[in-house]
Amino acid sequence: MFPCDFAWGAATAAYQIEGGWQADGKGPSIWDTFCHEGGRVCEEQTGDVSCNSYELWEKDLACIRRLGLTHYRLSLSWARLLPDGTTEHVSQKGVQYYNKVIEDLLSCDVSPMVTLYHFDLPQSLQNRGGWKAAAMATIFDSYARFCFQTFGDRVKLWITINEPYVCAKLGHEDGIHAPGLKEPGTAAYLVGHNMLRAHAMAWHSYDSLYRPTQGGVVSLAINSDWLEPLHPDCADDIAASRRCFAFTLGWFAWPLFVTGDYPETMRAAIDTQSRKLGYNGEPRLPTFSKHEPPVFGTADFFALNYYTSRKVKAGLECRQGMSMKSDRDAEEVLDPEWSICGVAWLAVVPCGLRKLLKYIKDTFHDPVVYITENGFSQVGPLVMEDAQRAEFYKDTIQEVEKAIGEDGVNVRGYFAWSLLDNFEWADGFSSRFGLFHVDFSDVGRKRTIYRSGLEYAKVISKYKAMYSKP
Ligand code: BGC
Repeated sequence: MFPCDFAWGAATAAYQIEGGWQADGKGPSIWDTFCHEGGRVCEEQTGDVSCNSYELWEKDLACIRRLGLTHYRLSLSWARLLPDGTTEHVSQKGVQYYNKVIEDLLSCDVSPMVTLYHFDLPQSLQNRGGWKAAAMATIFDSYARFCFQTFGDRVKLWITINEPYVCAKLGHEDGIHAPGLKEPGTAAYLVGHNMLRAHAMAWHSYDSLYRPTQGGVVSLAINSDWLEPLHPDCADDIAASRRCFAFTLGWFAWPLFVTGDYPETMRAAIDTQSRKLGYNGEPRLPTFSKHEPPVFGTADFFALNYYTSRKVKAGLECRQGMSMKSDRDAEEVLDPEWSICGVAWLAVVPCGLRKLLKYIKDTFHDPVVYITENGFSQVGPLVMEDAQRAEFYKDTIQEVEKAIGEDGVNVRGYFAWSLLDNFEWADGFSSRFGLFHVDFSDVGRKRTIYRSGLEYAKVISKYKAMYSKP
């Protein structure tokens, strides 16, 4: 049974839906640059217009109301608010836009959950070294303070950074996300480190300067698959799946919730590999300075993005060269029983979410949890009667209910990804995650609810009705 104040939500991110990439003085972000360079995104698509939510916000609001959401998770475009990334220049038009969004939500009784950073660094900050630069932490802190100061009287749920793992790995190791750097085995660790420092500084700013009057909560959204050994009795597979957890979920959750430092397994694996390679430079996994605000304890809740599961096996990978993959030294495989939805990486495993929630409860001291993203994509011929996705949401929500009722996990909210079909990063518009279809060939970007959206709306209204009964 879900608690009566459970957050029923859906999520989006600024670059994926807003468009208006140059509107009203907005500065360019690394995703604008990355898409415009060409050769990076499916069919050279860009987020220049996307769902055009910058101009069509009222249409999004109508979708939110149609679903009956109690919460809506959106992200702020840093470069729309601060075109060069610094608080020296504030765009009042940007401030007005988000003020309107927030006020419209509140007037419809929908609580905003606001993400400060969802992959779209202002390009001017990338030009100063981006997330690899240590200075980024204090620059982010100034931006965060600006947002708390400007919107915090009305926003009570904050996410500082969305998925540092994805920013670090896909953007700086694999080069398939902006800023497109391929520096295997080094840059991602540095980026992850600076993101944790930035998050911690912003959390401390909120805690001391804003929480006393604003009373909200702040966290960082961590993505994780559910991982389990391919052969549950094989010691090597068990160790490999522990290592995989350490290199994904643990990388960020361990410092925040357990020790203030990276998982020992992760550091040991990287150090071993460095020695093997005869690497003598600075430790690739940085250490936290005692002179900076501590990272430990800087998450007021656990913000989890869960999409899929993997089985893990050991020993087959050759540990050659410098890369995160050889540091991790474990191979992830799919269970042939799992069906795949649209994109190849997304095996449909709703029960993995329940297992992961239990793992989080046991490992990270029973935190309050919000599932800040979870979804299912459609690729190929368009199906408005998307029964498979409707089924997926029903099954997943049941698993969350069991996690709460049977495992005692303190889950307070669930946000479907995504409200709308949108710009799915390197996959462009080919992969559709929306509860609403968006017609990208229509100037008005018509939104039409999918069957899965109707079903999600029914679930929400069922629970709302239960609570309103005398
Ligand atoms: C991201 C979203 C993305 C979704 C589906 C998450 O990694 O936060 O921006 O669209 O997954 O790929």
